[in-house]
Amino acid sequence: MTFRSVLMATASLGFAFAAHAADNKEVQMLHWWTSGGEAAALNVLKQDLSKEGYAWKDVPVAGGGGEAAMTTLKAMVAAGNPPTASQILGYFALDYAEAGKLGDVSAVAAKEKWADVVPKALQKFTTTNGKWDAVPVNIHSVNWVWINKSVMDKIGGTEPKSFDDFLALLGKAKAAGAIPLALGGQPWQEATMFDSVVASTGGIEFYKKAFVDLDDAALKSDTMKKSFDNLAKLRDFVDPNYAGRDWNLATAMVIKGDALVQVMGDWAKGEFRAAKKEAGKDFLCYRFPGTDGSVIYNTDMFALFNVSADRKAAQMALAAATMSPSFQSAFNVVKGSVPARMDVPDTDFDICGKKGIADVKAANSKGSFVGSMAQNYAQPPAVAGAYHDVVTKFFHGEIKTSDAAVTELVKALNNAK
Ligand code: GAL
Repeated sequence: MTFRSVLMATASLGFAFAAHAADNKEVQMLHWWTSGGEAAALNVLKQDLSKEGYAWKDVPVAGGGGEAAMTTLKAMVAAGNPPTASQILGYFALDYAEAGKLGDVSAVAAKEKWADVVPKALQKFTTTNGKWDAVPVNIHSVNWVWINKSVMDKIGGTEPKSFDDFLALLGKAKAAGAIPLALGGQPWQEATMFDSVVASTGGIEFYKKAFVDLDDAALKSDTMKKSFDNLAKLRDFVDPNYAGRDWNLATAMVIKGDALVQVMGDWAKGEFRAAKKEAGKDFLCYRFPGTDGSVIYNTDMFALFNVSADRKAAQMALAAATMSPSFQSAFNVVKGSVPARMDVPDTDFDICGKKGIADVKAANSKGSFVGSMAQNYAQPPAVAGAYHDVVTKFFHGEIKTSDAAVTELVKALNNAK
């Protein structure tokens, strides 16, 4: 190496350091997307950002539903060390916004007119006083059932349209010796299933009254009691090893044909896709019986934290990449969800995705697009947590009757709100 080239190398190194301080080209992302389908979807984002020259610093915190991830996030923010962005649900984002912990990407939001294409219901969670501080990466919904088609054919089953139809179908599977219902017996999963049971039992207006309005009469009603009765009926159809099971292992039971059906949000479809299964051919997707026409949503957002000046450009790039129509299509095809932008064509989606997109649009225009109680879109985390608690205690027999469950639910929600 000549003296001159050493000088040049040193100079360019110095320049590189200076550039690094002014523009830290790294996106640090906290998330709980660790299953096969989830990781595949996240890869779409990593690749898009890497094409733009951004490095990815992964902060994965395993645990479906994100409870563990939210604990880690809290600690990072408290230590003054927030990630560039974090996967987040509903009211969790509002809490960070209220505490002044989120940044501002309104400049790009205005330029790209996000307000015109994202449903108003979601903008409640992605903006604070008109300023964009989170971006919605998808729209998931919880009121789906996922069915193994060959098991369905074997038992001669047809699409269940009501809760009673569903019980009859589960009964057929049981009689044929299959595990009827693949359940992950964790609080968030049981509560997520109960969202659908309540909407099916009482209708979406009842669901709204009870969970969005926390209306006392609705919570104490016979309809709520009947919802618990219906939940109890599902207990007869799970296998003995359901307690504590992860959601994706329950999905795998349906994928393999060990079980007929899983009641789960459409992130389950990401697992079918990762296992190379085809919608309509290998598996069937229906709305939870009795809830067709309604969408009980949970949107994954990236909360954009208040980061130092040198990290802001990377944050802006992440936000812009997340909201680009082509990314919203590519990502959601893999994730199982549907785009959070209403102007993304459904061309690349399978039949379940096409139905999901149409359902969101229809529900959004007729007032049946409603946030999931279990997934922190109907109430703040403390209330949602109290809900998980009562539902799981009832399902596992610690709360013995539906009457007692109603009493406990009213008490727990009142204490938490
Ligand atoms: C949900 C989240 C989904 C999926 C699921 C299981 O809360 O919205 O994206 O990750 O948890 O982990």
